[in-house]
Amino acid sequence: MSTQLETMRDTMRDAVPRYRRMTAADLEEVVAIEQAIYPHPWTRGNFADSIEAGYHCWIVECAGAVAGYLVVMAAAGEAHLLNLSVSAAWQRRGIGRQALGFALKLASDYGARHILLEVRPSNRAAISLYTAAGFAEISVRRGYYPAGGLREDAIVLQRTLEKHDS
Ligand SMILES: CC(C)(COP(=O)(O)OP(=O)(O)OC[C@H]1O[C@@H](n2cnc3c(N)ncnc32)[C@H](O)[C@@H]1OP(=O)(O)O)[C@@H](O)C(=O)NCCC(=O)NCCS
Repeated sequence: MSTQLETMRDTMRDAVPRYRRMTAADLEEVVAIEQAIYPHPWTRGNFADSIEAGYHCWIVECAGAVAGYLVVMAAAGEAHLLNLSVSAAWQRRGIGRQALGFALKLASDYGARHILLEVRPSNRAAISLYTAAGFAEISVRRGYYPAGGLREDAIVLQRTLEKHDS
């Protein structure tokens, strides 16, 4: 009986997302997820450069697996959410929303008063996530993204960071 309880307790503990810094050792797994979920994924070099540049690169770990990751650049009172991703296997379980909250807190802790990001107009899931979290459109970058030989605009979303975000 106690073994069953211990197993249940371990399972519940493992299902709670844990945040840790991304290192070079994560890049193979991160790039595999990235390639599976984006038509135009970041490269290994993009992640390596982000770590090297000192951007805030975090892994979201669930049950010992990489469930997602995020990259935030914060400087001079502004933050930019450069990447927020949840692996296909872990999507639609609230991890994206929680990881976004983590990114907002991180940005606020590093002194940012605003955070912005770019998103494809076709990415309804992400737009829904961001607008529900208080982001609003501030501009459009024409032809920002590659899109199968063509280009797709980027919607620029911004959110003011409040004290309670930190
Ligand atoms: C966008 C993404 C990060 C959301 O992560 P997630 O863990 O699946 O999202 P959550 O379960 O936390 O859902 C939070 C909200 O996001 C929206 N959402 C997430 N997936 C959605 C989907 N497939 N369709 C519509 N809305 C969706 C909903 O508003 C949802 O709230 P609800 O559950 O109350 O409806 C994830 O789908 C992903 O990594 N996609 C590929 C990469 C990407 O597009 N990143 C963003 C680039 S700007």
